[in-house]
This record gives sequence, C-alpha cells and structure tokens, in this order.
Amino acid sequence: MSKNILILNGSPRMKGNTAMLCDAFAEGAKSAGHTVTRFDLQKMNIHGCLGCVKGGKAPAAPCVQKDDMLQIYPAYKEADIVVLASPMYYWGFSGQLKTAFDRLFAVAECNPGYANPKKDCALIMAAEGNSADNWKPALDYYQALLGFLEWKDLGHVLAGGVFDAGAVAGTPVIDEAFRFGASL
Ligand SMILES: Cc1cc2nc3c(=O)[nH]c(=O)nc-3n(C[C@H](O)[C@H](O)[C@H](O)COP(=O)(O)O)c2cc1C
Repeated sequence: MSKNILILNGSPRMKGNTAMLCDAFAEGAKSAGHTVTRFDLQKMNIHGCLGCVKGGKAPAAPCVQKDDMLQIYPAYKEADIVVLASPMYYWGFSGQLKTAFDRLFAVAECNPGYANPKKDCALIMAAEGNSADNWKPALDYYQALLGFLEWKDLGHVLAGGVFDAGAVAGTPVIDEAFRFGASL
C-alpha cells in the first residue's frame, strides 16, 4: 500500500552525509510507490518552542508562532511515516531537528490529554564515531521518544565513520538507505 512519508532532515549541510542518505532513502521509497515529502530544516525559518502551552486552537496552524512550521504541520498530519534524519551532534539530534520536533507538540495540544497522532517512524543518522557506545545515547533517546509518543519504530540507517560532508558517498550504507526506503 502506498504511504505518505515525511522526512525531516536536520542537517545544515545540503551536500552532507545525512542529505545523501535522505536522497537514497527517498529514491527507494518512491521506487516502491510511496509519496515522499521532505523538509530541509536548515533552509526554513523555525523558532524554538516557547513552552507557552497556548497552542492547539486551530489544527491547520496549531502553534501560536506563525513561521515555516506552517508548511510542516499539514504534511505531518498526512504522514503515515515520519523519518527523523540528522547528523549526530553531541550524541543527539541536531538543533534544527530538535527545534522542529518540539514544535509538533502544538499538534498534540489540539487533542484531549495532549494525545499525539499515531505514526510509524524511522531514523537516519550520520556520525563521525561508529562504536556501539557512540550510537547508544542517540538511539536511547530515539527509543524513549517513540515510547512516549507510542509510535512504531520501523528501523534505522546509521552511517558511522563519516565526518566530512559527502564522505558517505559510494559506501554500502547508501545502498542500505535505498533498500530501507524501498522496503517500506
Ligand atoms: C557540532 C557537532 C557535533 C558533533 N557531535 C558528534 C558526536 O557527538 N558524535 C559523533 O560521532 N560525531 C559528531 N559530529 C560529527 C558529525 O556527526 C558528522 O560529521 C556527520 O557526518 C555530519 O553529518 P552531515 O554531513 O549530514 O552534516 C559532530 C559534528 C558537529 C559539527
């Protein structure tokens, strides 16, 4: 069945490793008949959550802040699968991805008990390190987030050992990202 896939790319490097993994993943997903909507968050004007808890009044524009999140909210609503894509920055997500994700709280504010919409989710991440210890904090965070949201984890593509922008090009993990996208 064709699915709507939303990719939130949190890398500031448009020719970086995360972006290349997103390209391959999206190509694979499209080859399987899925619809892919991608936001390169670095190019967008997205402010941090104010924690005001005053949103949730208008489902199409649920946050009190009216910035480029207004483009993401409708795509998030339609998405069956949300792909969180980020370089590892200090063992977590980049600020770009964290900032956008925090703002999705406004969608939950539309619902009684701040119920989050149910989604399937996948993780794409690039990092300089490649040991299990290096991945653990980011993967623990991802699992905790999904546990809280009650989202289903579809899996992840992790490119370790890549520091320079584009270092992931031509490596097997690019094929892995394509196959992952095609497998959904
Ligand atoms: C601010 C900053 C923090 C980083 N923190 C980590 C880290 O905690 N662990 C790690 O393995 N790599 C870390 N890196 C390296 C990046 O994850 C790596 O260069 C990655 O390939 C960047 O992906 P991109 O090309 O998609 O931007 C960091 C890089 C920067 C600029």
